[in-house]
Amino acid sequence: MGPKHFLNFEKISNQEFVSIIERGIELKNSNETEKTLKGKILGLVFEQPSTRTRVSFEVGINNLGGSSIFLSGSELQLSRGEPISDTAKVLSSMLDVIVLRTDNHEKLEIFSQNSSVPIINGLTNSFHPCQIMADLMTFREVSKGKNLEKVCWIGDGNNVCNSYIEAAKLLNFELSIFCPKGYEPNANILESSKKFVSLATNKEDALRNADIVTTDVWTSMSSNTKLKDRKKIFKEFFVSPDDMKKAKDKSIFLHCLPAHRGEEITVDMLEDQSSKVWVQAENRMHIQKAILEYLLLD
Ligand code: CP
Ligand code: NVA
Repeated sequence: MGPKHFLNFEKISNQEFVSIIERGIELKNSNETEKTLKGKILGLVFEQPSTRTRVSFEVGINNLGGSSIFLSGSELQLSRGEPISDTAKVLSSMLDVIVLRTDNHEKLEIFSQNSSVPIINGLTNSFHPCQIMADLMTFREVSKGKNLEKVCWIGDGNNVCNSYIEAAKLLNFELSIFCPKGYEPNANILESSKKFVSLATNKEDALRNADIVTTDVWTSMSSNTKLKDRKKIFKEFFVSPDDMKKAKDKSIFLHCLPAHRGEEITVDMLEDQSSKVWVQAENRMHIQKAILEYLLLD
């Protein structure tokens, strides 16, 4: 049997998911971090820009007693055509665990099939599982163990949305998606979670009774439509403090960041009392420490 990978939520159980979240909260609240990953070396292969994912993984592995090497795709032989399978074989012979951020999810799959060590999805154009784990850790933390019944997604049916769809099935919550026609999430991913996910025809229906309201940029790193067209298409697909009043009492607003004020959120949204985006961003580090332990410790 090969190593355990963390590419999406397909191969993870509900119990494992919940344990990782509980461990993330425990790590966050512990005064002194045990060096559980002493000597382990994490490689970060990034073919796209990043602020949170890169820093949270680098600081996280250091906190646990390990170290990291950042490898920009443009500086690797990958950029000169070395096959991703060869790159995976070589890097995994020297590193203990690797985070890959890339465009095409198939590349991540090929990388993982050729790796002798665990591979973590640091974002592809299909999924962003580390982000959703941080989101759900944040909900659990700020709502003090309240049951998550409904998530409302407003905007592009993108990679982050796809990971919410997988999480809805795994954790048994309702996900209501309000997105423009033609920008729905991937049909196969939707189909796999159809009992838990619905496409709303108006914003009010999507917001009603939601515990979490969340959105993301109109144009992702891998999107190929021109921003000007998307600005027109996505005009109605934003979240404001007024919208939060239409969700459940004490609902929280989340955004994976980076955010575009005046596009998918109003200028005042991140400062609204419902917004937990800064806690959410910090939680990337705590949850990823728990993910690293899940992959590297028996
Ligand atoms: N949310 C997120 O993944 O941020 P970065 O692109 O900055 O890593
Ligand atoms: N959907 C966004 C998420 C960024 C963290 C993108 O892929 O660019």
